[in-house]
Amino acid sequence: KEGSFLEHITIQDSFPIGAAQLEAAAKQALPEEIFGHIRSGAGGEETLRKNRAAFEKYSIIPRFLRNVSEVDTSIRILGKEYASPLMVAPIGHLKMVHDEPDFAIANVAASMNIPYIQSTVTARSIEEISEAVPQGPKWFQLYWSNNDAISYSMAERAEKAGYEAIVVTVDTMILGWREDDMRYQYSPLKKGYGKANYVQDPAFQSSLKDGQDEIGSIIENLHHPSLHWDNIAELRKRTKLPIFLKGILHPEDAKQAINAGIDGIIVSNHGGRQMDGVISSLEALSAVRKAVGPDFPLLFDSGVRRGADVIKALALGADAILFGRPYTYALALQGEEGVQKVFANLAQEVAVSMALSGAKTIEEVKQLTLKVADN
Ligand code: FNR
Repeated sequence: KEGSFLEHITIQDSFPIGAAQLEAAAKQALPEEIFGHIRSGAGGEETLRKNRAAFEKYSIIPRFLRNVSEVDTSIRILGKEYASPLMVAPIGHLKMVHDEPDFAIANVAASMNIPYIQSTVTARSIEEISEAVPQGPKWFQLYWSNNDAISYSMAERAEKAGYEAIVVTVDTMILGWREDDMRYQYSPLKKGYGKANYVQDPAFQSSLKDGQDEIGSIIENLHHPSLHWDNIAELRKRTKLPIFLKGILHPEDAKQAINAGIDGIIVSNHGGRQMDGVISSLEALSAVRKAVGPDFPLLFDSGVRRGADVIKALALGADAILFGRPYTYALALQGEEGVQKVFANLAQEVAVSMALSGAKTIEEVKQLTLKVADN
């Protein structure tokens, strides 16, 4: 059957297969400060390493003899159906690796019917992306601005442009301690790679004083060290869109999010780029699922590289997975086509992994048994 998940061996070409090869190829192709900015984690990269190591602590115990000739990878979240449990993690400043990154990525997400989660700091604005790629589900990730009016304005713009959800990233009230960026004195923000949403924002424009430098003021406005539950409560009143909080790791924060009227949570440690030494995202997952109950929308990211990783995260309580760095490398190497391949490969590997684990649906994946390592 054409396009069947059973044909994965015949559809490959010379594109690097697997995340490790992809990362190695990107390292060759990119200037070291750009590769370093993407690859690195905060501090001594303890959490970056833990994110990967955590996957090896869990082993899938597969089921057989269940007729897996068809598998259905689709999911439903807040009443919407998506083709696969994969989502595009918000990644800012991608103009550092490609001339027109945001349209390319939004196109791939639309072609696969998976959510494109647009970063606050993209090269194209909410309006430009929704006009260029009107089809396909889009969510907007908000870095809460020091100027509340800008945050509300961006949320309003996303709602107006037909976005399906707002994702407030809660772990980036200040920037992590990133030594690669310090070493290379590299700041994609200073280069203006992620300025479109600010430059086109009426609240930002009206906050500028005569002759004030735009980029300097974006940098001053972008993060919000005093970010607090009160801000979230205010946003809740101002938008009709579902709100997700990205970066939750503690079950008590998850409970508080529910009390604040939040619609979903993304368990994440920002790919190990914010606080070094924090718990791996995967190890945080099941306690958060327990805290929010079985039906609350719970997403996951940080360290997912293969189909089996996706299976493990789903079995530990996630409803869907955000996928980050590998598509950035693919974009750098082969543009939109590269991004298409990396998502198509992962989606196929998920389907193959489901079949080989004996799960025909995502619900069945969630019922799989995992063995946890003793040490
Ligand atoms: C990110 N991430 C991120 N998150 C966010 O909420 N807004 C953003 O603008 C960015 N920008 C960004 C840039 C780069 C270069 C990286 C690598 C990451 C974090 C991202 O959404 C996600 O949480 C992690 O990338 C997931 O981990 P993996 O899949 O990269 O291991």
